[in-house]
This record gives sequence, structure tokens and C-alpha cells, in this order.
Amino acid sequence: MKHDFLKRLGVAEPCSGVKGKTWIDRPTGGEIVSIDPATGEEIGRVWQASEKEAERVLAEAQEAFLEWRSVPAPVRGEAVRKLGHALREKKEDLGRLVTLEVGKILVEGKGEVQEMIDVSDFAVGLSRQLYGLTMPSERPGHRLQEQWHPLGVVGCITAFNFPAAVWAWNFALAAVCGDSVVWKPSELAPLTAVAVTRIAHQVFEEAGFPAVASLVAGGPAVGEKLVKDRRLPLVSFTGSTTVGRKVGTWVAERLGRTILEMGGNNAVIVLDDANQELALRACLFAAAGTAGQRCTTLRRLIVQRGIAGAFTDRLVKSYRGIKVGDPQEAGTLMGPLITERAVEGYVRALDAAKKQGGEVLVGGKKLDRKGFYVEPTVVRIPADAPIVKEETFAPILYVLECKDVLDAVRINNGVAQGLSSAIFTTNMQAAERFMSASGSDCGLANVNVGTSGAEIGGAFGGEKDTGGGRESGSDSWKLYMRRQTNTINWSNDLPLAQGITFAT
Ligand code: UN1
Repeated sequence: MKHDFLKRLGVAEPCSGVKGKTWIDRPTGGEIVSIDPATGEEIGRVWQASEKEAERVLAEAQEAFLEWRSVPAPVRGEAVRKLGHALREKKEDLGRLVTLEVGKILVEGKGEVQEMIDVSDFAVGLSRQLYGLTMPSERPGHRLQEQWHPLGVVGCITAFNFPAAVWAWNFALAAVCGDSVVWKPSELAPLTAVAVTRIAHQVFEEAGFPAVASLVAGGPAVGEKLVKDRRLPLVSFTGSTTVGRKVGTWVAERLGRTILEMGGNNAVIVLDDANQELALRACLFAAAGTAGQRCTTLRRLIVQRGIAGAFTDRLVKSYRGIKVGDPQEAGTLMGPLITERAVEGYVRALDAAKKQGGEVLVGGKKLDRKGFYVEPTVVRIPADAPIVKEETFAPILYVLECKDVLDAVRINNGVAQGLSSAIFTTNMQAAERFMSASGSDCGLANVNVGTSGAEIGGAFGGEKDTGGGRESGSDSWKLYMRRQTNTINWSNDLPLAQGITFAT
């Protein structure tokens, strides 16, 4: 039986996943089947792009950019304002689709759409604030200024776990900055991508704007084409460090720009003076929320020795109360993993953990039911066990012990990834130390707030193997534009900079 919202979103029947200026009717790059991870059953089908069709999309995106870049930025903002409205109207349906296709619970599915709305609102304001600086010139009768100009076609490659919001972070900003966007979504969430692109396309078409939201559903070959194409001055990539490293290298080779959002191995530090109730609730959401499949998921809990035993006991007790089940159902806190392969990854990581001195305190098994379900799991393990350094995209929380805040920061920083981190303490010196230059080396460092669920207003991203990219809030928009410095001489003389004289 088909869900009604699939019809309303236009993805109930096999549909095209390729759109440049318009939708390509029946693209020929092969069919992809979208699977409901809660049942393992088919939800729908999407036709993907062939090499030739991908080429057409790129060419049309380039055309759209050339038109769009001359539209005044506040008018571009108006288009994104309309997109935000359309998303508000479709929040319920789109949230349900996200839940159906990737298995996150319904409040999180809707939360993802809310994140799209929030970033649209942010971008509308931004469309009147693409400020450049003016600088005093060292020469009389001269002026120095900088301007920010649209950059070009932006390639956007997204992962399954935020199948809509990450596109919106990129698209809303890129659109007000005057860029067009070619989106290659995850092969695990093609329906969400088609539904979202339909909404964006309709908004832009009805308002008479160029078609700046393009879609190329496809496999690695399509991704590689985008990454290697010189017409794309910026590629924003979310996914594994292994693939991201290749993306970064290929784009660098052609001197393009990247925004890389790769893995995290995020830690929460709980000191003995912490408000433990807060810490407990934050850890539950951060570690078991989204079935452990956020880049920002809490994977390492670093507890100060004196409270480690008692805090871990409370945590284990709370874990027993996590209801695992159908993500569509109210009351469920954890849905399935995305694929059988993800379940295998979970099992493999736990086997390794046990061999490396880990003790499973709660959970630890895959569930014997349809779909790709596992138990949320807590493992007590020595801080130096190799498996703790790896990011396993599953709800496994490793509990480690620390002596004090300095030891905790050392453990926090002792992994290759550098996305998110948090400390729970009521000691302001410890909190400040954690956020200081010699503290956490992550892109996000929170105090008395968990590692996941960042707001869109801040720049989002991380260091080291996480890739160094920043998207969403603050001044991330600058990555989507090119900076031009202008020197203007309004005098009748021609003094040279640095006091150089050059006269015959
Ligand atoms: C991701 O997991 O790829 O901070 C992004 C968060 C969300 C975004 C996560 N706002 O958890």
C-alpha cells in the first residue's frame, strides 16, 4: 500500500531523478530502488542519469548561473523566502518521507525539514548582508574596497543521514549568493532528493526565476564527473573520510574549492562537578538519537574517575528504557540502521571491541525482526583500544575514564577526526580550558550541551579528518562567492603603492 504523502510529493510512481532546466523524462542511467530500512521493502524507484544526461544538467546549470548572477541579491533572497514557505507547507509530508526512507524517528524527520526552513530564513536575511569591507588606501585620492560576487555552479554531494537538510544548507546559501547548484544525492535516499528538488523547482519556476536547483541522481561515476569538472568552482561533499579524501584531491588538482564534511568521533566529557541529570539526557540523545547515524553522534563518553561507576550505571539504566522500533510510531526513540551493511559494521565493531578489552554493559545485539535493527549499546573499554579511534556509523557508545580535565582533553583530541565535542561541568575554569586554544581541537566545542543537534546559525564543520569545511551559518557564505578587491583612484595623480617612483 502506498502512503498518501508519497503521491502528494510526486514520488509514488517510478520517477526521474535528473533535472537541469527541466526534468529529463526518462533518464537512462539505470534505476535505483529506494528501500524502507524499517522493513527492508521497496518504497519506490528513481531513474538515474547517464553520463550524457549528467553532462546536459551541468551545461544547463551553467546557463542558469549566468542569468541568476545578475539578479540582485535581495531578489534572490525573495526566491529563497518562497522556498522556505513551500517547505513550511510540506513539512509534515517531507518529514514523513525522510523517516520512511532513512529510518530516523518522525520528530527527527520533521526536525530535519525545520532545519531546512531555518537555513532558508537565515539566507533571506543574508541576501541583504553580503558585506564587503572598505579599507583606507595608503595613497591620496584613492579608495580600497572589496566586493563579493557569485561564484558559479556548486556541486553538492550529500549523504543518506541528512538527505534533505544538508542540501538546504548548501542550496539556500548558494542561491542567495547567486550560484546554481547541482545536487548528487545519496543512492540510499533518492526519493527525498526528488521530492525536495520538485519543491524547489516549482517555487523558482512559478516566480519566473532561472532553474538553479538541479539534480543528478547517480552512482559514483556521476559523482566523479561532478568532482572533476572545471565548470564547478566549488564542490561541497558530505560522506566518509575515504571518499572525501579523493574528492579533496581531485578538486585540488584542478585548483577548485571544497567544503568537506566527513566523519566525526565525537566525545562528551563529564567531570565530577557536572549536573549529571543534564549530562545523562544529553548523552542519550547524542549517542542513541538517529540510531547513532549523525556525523555529530556521541561515540566516546569520557567520565572523570570519581563518578565513572555511578554515572555509567545511570546511563545503562536509561538505555534499557530506549524504545527501539518503527520510526513512524510515536514513542519510538530509535529506528533502524540504514542497511544490512550498516548492521554488519555494528556487529564487526562490537566483536573488535570485545577482543580489545571492551565489556558490553547494555545492548550489543542485532534484533531478530524485519528491517535493519540493532540495540543501542554501551561498551566500557580502555581509552587506548584501537576500535575507539574508528567511527562506526551505529549506536555504539564507548565509555572511557579520565583523571581530570587535561587528561580528558588529551583523550578527546587523540583521534583522527575533529568534528564535535562537549564538556559537562559547573566549573567555569574547566569549561573555558576546554574551549581554549589548548583545549578541544574540534570544529564544535559545547558546554553543557551534547555533541549533536547543532543550530544552523553557527558555522558547522570540523578539523583534521573531518575535512575542515564549514557550512550553514556565520560567514560560511563567503565560500560560495568570489572576493574581488577594487582600488579606485579619484585623483588626478598616479602615486604608486609602497612609495615607488617610476617616471621618465
Ligand atoms: C550530519 O550528521 O551530517 O548537528 C549533520 C547536527 C545536525 C547536523 C548533522 N544539525 O547533528
